[in-house]
Amino acid sequence: MAKPKVFVCRPIAREALEKIASETEMELWPEEIPPPASVILEKAGTAEGLLSLLTDRIDATVIKAAPRLRVISNLAVGFDNIDIKEATRRHIPVGITSGVLTDTTADFAFALLMAAARRVVEADRYTRQGKWKTWGPMVLLGQDIHHAILGIIGLGRIGKEMARRASGFRMKVLYHDAFRCPGEEERRLGIQYVENLPQLLSQADFISIHVPLTADTRHLIGEKEFALMKPTAVLVNTSRGPVVDQQALYQALKNHQIFGAGIDVTETEPIPADDPLLTLENIIIAPHIASASVPTRTKMALIAADNLLAGLRGEMLPNCANPEAVP
Ligand code: DGY
Repeated sequence: MAKPKVFVCRPIAREALEKIASETEMELWPEEIPPPASVILEKAGTAEGLLSLLTDRIDATVIKAAPRLRVISNLAVGFDNIDIKEATRRHIPVGITSGVLTDTTADFAFALLMAAARRVVEADRYTRQGKWKTWGPMVLLGQDIHHAILGIIGLGRIGKEMARRASGFRMKVLYHDAFRCPGEEERRLGIQYVENLPQLLSQADFISIHVPLTADTRHLIGEKEFALMKPTAVLVNTSRGPVVDQQALYQALKNHQIFGAGIDVTETEPIPADDPLLTLENIIIAPHIASASVPTRTKMALIAADNLLAGLRGEMLPNCANPEAVP
């Protein structure tokens, strides 16, 4: 029997590729740069399975051009690059990699929080630029992390892990989410629910965003929200770039309306070389690497392979964003 045809949009961990190749006729896009939309559209025309990354748009046009498509496996926990409604309408399950990257992503969010508060990246630049002349009582002063107030926006898996990390620093943790978690869990995590976002923004010393990108969360943080933050506040974003209005972020940082920011995601990725944010000292910008540890990226690749193969076998995906797609 002929093996099902699949298109894998980027080289991923070898173990995962071997798994896929053993059960399918696999075509692999070999470059680091994503396949152009025209290539995805063409490959979708004959593929039964697609393994995509968050940089690959699998929109309604692609799905409609893919009559044989039976599964989409996204190598990410976020799936805003996929038209999930259209996939569900076509009964195509969409695999994601939630679970395995929770701790790694929270580690990185906390690393950004600490680095922005204590100006670690700026300090390294300062040293390399030969500016370190003596020990100075006023040099590179930052903000304290211990005993400060952390405001978590979005208390999903990663948000909860942020709360756990914060407790080690004896921080007070507030959270805002569309759903309040049970009192027992609030007590276990040592967190306090704040019903409205403005309240959280005005109280927190650190604000960390952990919501998915949806129509409701696009530009959730903009000019109005920055105006509520403390001048000593630090914003951390490891979710999706468009959740923050980047122009408003630039103005807030430039005018020292807030102290600093650490972001792993930008509105356009990669961030254009002439983006004004890159001219500021009080922001750390990482190239979307919060889940990028060797073990985690390997696990993500293996889950993506398992999701893809399960979908091709007609089985329930181990990690599915739209279980309702399969009757
Ligand atoms: C995701 O999985 O959605 C992250 O942004 C990348 O790991």
